[in-house]
Amino acid sequence: MEKELIRLENCTMAFDDEVVLDNISLSIRDKEFLTLLGPSGCGKTTTLRIIGGFTKPVSGGVFFDGVRINDMPPHKRNVNTVFQKYALFTHLNVFENVAFGLRLQKPKLSKAEIARLVDEMLEVVSLRGFNNRDASSLSGGQQQRVAIARALVLKPRVLLLDEPLGALDLRLRKDMQNELKRIQQQTEITFVYVTHDQEEALAMSDTVVVMDGGIIQQIGSPEDVYNEPKNAFVADFIGESNIVDGIMRSDGEVEIFGRRMKCLDGGFGKDEPADVVIRPEDIDIVPLGSDAAMLTGQVTNVTFKGVHYDIIVDFKGFKWLIQTTDLSPVGGKIGIKLDPDSIHIMKKSRYSGMFGDYSSYSAEYDDISDASLGEDDVEDDE
Ligand SMILES: Nc1ncnc2c1ncn2[C@@H]1O[C@H](COP(=O)(O)OP(=O)(O)OP(=O)(O)O)[C@@H](O)[C@H]1O
Ligand SMILES: [Mg+2]
Repeated sequence: MEKELIRLENCTMAFDDEVVLDNISLSIRDKEFLTLLGPSGCGKTTTLRIIGGFTKPVSGGVFFDGVRINDMPPHKRNVNTVFQKYALFTHLNVFENVAFGLRLQKPKLSKAEIARLVDEMLEVVSLRGFNNRDASSLSGGQQQRVAIARALVLKPRVLLLDEPLGALDLRLRKDMQNELKRIQQQTEITFVYVTHDQEEALAMSDTVVVMDGGIIQQIGSPEDVYNEPKNAFVADFIGESNIVDGIMRSDGEVEIFGRRMKCLDGGFGKDEPADVVIRPEDIDIVPLGSDAAMLTGQVTNVTFKGVHYDIIVDFKGFKWLIQTTDLSPVGGKIGIKLDPDSIHIMKKSRYSGMFGDYSSYSAEYDDISDASLGEDDVEDDE
């Protein structure tokens, strides 16, 4: 594992007494692709600006290679930034846009050296042969790649990217995600990337930092934050999840809806209340009345999604989302089975009870449904 390159230590940021970053600590390793992920206003850009030196935290330390750099101005930091708006020089061609920073370097680089470095970088971003094109004549994706080449050609240790794909359409976004990941691996430059798009974060990153309300909620690999979310906020923000109240009866045994089920989690107090997350793709539908059926519910809504169906199932008034390739008709009752590894237990948090219920998903169906099919008719198989 590479060594630490950047460290934020207990950084707090406030504007007019309003705290927007609350005592955050973060370690960024050399050569890693780290993503700050969270909803609008959670403090992603502010965190990036602190790393870039555009904003000074009101308290806490910023370290680069172990050296405190709180007072170092942006241009002295070995860091470059790519913004959401490409901010290219539209009156210059592609070559001159990329060469711009190189021409300012001291000692002065030779013409031939500048040409070599620019060509090399245009190759990296797959824009070979675009040298003489006007920046204004390029597509959005091409412009963004010029902006990235312009930042990378200066060989910073760190590239900060603030929602760089935000302005692109979905298809181009996906292509550019792969492209950026490849560029990062090829150049071995540390990327600190900001997005509010959880799929993008999972697809590109070595490390994902999930933020909400100026607080880091979880730091981990994409697999970690998806499979082992720390709290209901993370579980809800990353992917779809059903979140229900549970009681940890003992290590490896949780009770939900009055039923005890095996799980893989432990370390809770005896009978400690917990939040239980069950991903929609981890739920098995089994024949009604079979021994395998752990809960019985009623299908209230079905949506065809191409690869699978999203079905909403009512368990005692609590509505779950299940993703399945088998069609289960609306109004029918189904049994479900939960394997121990499809049940994930989280500590109660201030987010408990706020997320993970799919009632609104099927509100329209409920309005027209027969009152006799209310929740009292749906029971589990105890
Ligand atoms: N210069 C400023 N003056 C006052 N408040 C600010 C300033 N900069 C940021 N804020 C506030 O700090 C909070 C965090 O802002 P920030 O830009 O870091 O959010 P973000 O996570 O990047 O959001 P988005 O996804 O919308 O870009 C917001 O409530 C914002 O209004
Ligand atoms: Mg922002």
